[in-house]
Amino acid sequence: MLIAPSILTANFARLEEELIKIESADKIHLDVMDGHFVPNISFGPHISRSISKVSKLPLDIHLMVTDPLFWIDQFVFPNTEYLTIHIEANHTEESIKKIKQANVKVGLSLKPKTKVYDIIPYLKDCDLVLVMTVEPGFGGQSFMEDMMDKVVELVKIRKEKKLDFLIEVDGGISDKTIDICKKSGVDMAVAGSYVFNHKDPKDAINSLK
Ligand code: DX5
Ligand code: ZN
Repeated sequence: MLIAPSILTANFARLEEELIKIESADKIHLDVMDGHFVPNISFGPHISRSISKVSKLPLDIHLMVTDPLFWIDQFVFPNTEYLTIHIEANHTEESIKKIKQANVKVGLSLKPKTKVYDIIPYLKDCDLVLVMTVEPGFGGQSFMEDMMDKVVELVKIRKEKKLDFLIEVDGGISDKTIDICKKSGVDMAVAGSYVFNHKDPKDAINSLK
């Protein structure tokens, strides 16, 4: 299981120290919120660029924005591995094209109320599918176990269509919820509050792995 800690729960006044604590993770998950697609504002390109300069890990950037087309270029750093947009946002097709043109891996996310059926036409272009296991916008919410049906469905579709995207989950991941994710076929899990509220984030990452 790949683990991508979300820095949303980190102490932003001490970001570099916080990043050092999660060096044993596989990726860093950056939650970008525009105050419109979700009812919260997190951080934008400037802070993300600073993180990209001090981080040794690949960046997994989750764009919770209404107009990804406008923002994509501003999040392309040398270590941006995935740029994930939401199917519920504007201009999905053009945004996917733009991410590919930037030589970054394409991620597509779906909110809890969105069906897997809606993303099927785009799956052939995806390197990653992010299944939200909470309503996007805030850290520290409870895991929605019924989202595992979507993971199982995606595993089946991936096999049938001979595709190779990773399946990622985001929201409410902890030592209590990681097992059902593994059993359902998740490849990569995002964890925010579980990692950063733990007395030793390195132990938290290990226990999830
Ligand atoms: C929610 C974000 C998540 C969130 C996860 O909008 O996409 O990445 O920070 O936080 P926890 O692990 O606390 O649910
Ligand atoms: Zn996220």
